[in-house]
Amino acid sequence: MNDMQIATVPVRLSDKGLRVTLPDGREGYFNYYWLRDNSPTSFDSATRERTFDIFHLDEPPKAETAEVEGDTLVIRWQGEDHVSPYPMSLLAAFADAKRRPDPADLPRKAWYGDHYPDIARFSQRELMADKRKVADWIEAMLREGVAILTDMPDSDEALTETAHLMGQVRPTFFGEYFDVRTHIKPTNLAYTAKALELHTDTPAEEVAPGVQFLHCRANTVEGGGSLFADGVAVANNFRERDPEGFRLLSQIDIPFYCEHDTYDMRSRQRVIELDEHGAVSGLTISQHMADMFDLPQTLLDDYYPAFCRFGRMLQEQRYVMRFLLKAGECITFDNHRIVHGRAAYSATSGSRYLRGCYVDRAEMRSTYRALVSEGRFKG
Ligand SMILES: [Fe+2]
Repeated sequence: MNDMQIATVPVRLSDKGLRVTLPDGREGYFNYYWLRDNSPTSFDSATRERTFDIFHLDEPPKAETAEVEGDTLVIRWQGEDHVSPYPMSLLAAFADAKRRPDPADLPRKAWYGDHYPDIARFSQRELMADKRKVADWIEAMLREGVAILTDMPDSDEALTETAHLMGQVRPTFFGEYFDVRTHIKPTNLAYTAKALELHTDTPAEEVAPGVQFLHCRANTVEGGGSLFADGVAVANNFRERDPEGFRLLSQIDIPFYCEHDTYDMRSRQRVIELDEHGAVSGLTISQHMADMFDLPQTLLDDYYPAFCRFGRMLQEQRYVMRFLLKAGECITFDNHRIVHGRAAYSATSGSRYLRGCYVDRAEMRSTYRALVSEGRFKG
């Protein structure tokens, strides 16, 4: 027997955890609670859920013995008739407390007013037939926040079945879908022929719906052009141009409302939304749904001018993409990032009809991960 054959990977047990040499030579420390709770034996392979209940251990978990056999760490637990095998690759992935890699965490690509020819476009027929195209569509949504679907059938069902490619339809207090055309007794500015300033939808909800679908069924009126702008592009430039204004808009909550005979929805939101890394992830803005600011009037001495500077910047030519949505197209966009609006139109000049619905962003990311990654129990 030579030295190579008897060489063992050292494992050092201590009171609350153990240290083991990882395949790359580093030493990793692992807490016994974490090890016991995340033993591969704790999970059911059919449901993929944890079936072990750590709350019902009589004693704090502690290793009786632990040794590395091949590429597996094997622990026998004190006071339990239980053995846990851990692939060393699993331990290596958690040794540095790094967040689990997320395939849906893609870098955002800011776009400007000239983006229309470059918008990601997908045929609805192809999306229905090919899951890889669905992944491409969602990838464009995660990176750029906007995409146009073409070849939409002229039916109510087409919108719902298209939304279902991404996730469940997320209702709002307007219901499962909404129709944008001129209403005789409008409850919302969208349902008139007037111009609609750049906004995000239903900011008065605690969590506004994530992804908006607007299926254009008819658009033969004079006017009624669509306006879209990338909140990330504008807010990133605002951060450089106006650091104090950026600070106010990204730190102070303002009230939004949506009120009519049978509802009175209210929330407080920040105009500029930052992600966990401090990067701009989106906007919440709507002049027609901003409530009367109930902030100290002296704070408003600074806040209001900054709010107006930002609101004017949103409308600058360089940011605003202008085009006419055509019948048979469906624009999909991130309602927490992309601001949208429309030019006024002449209601008697033809017909204009858009049907819309929403899917939440978490559903979109979930579908994307399932399409592009193996998942922890596959493979
Ligand atoms: Fe809207």
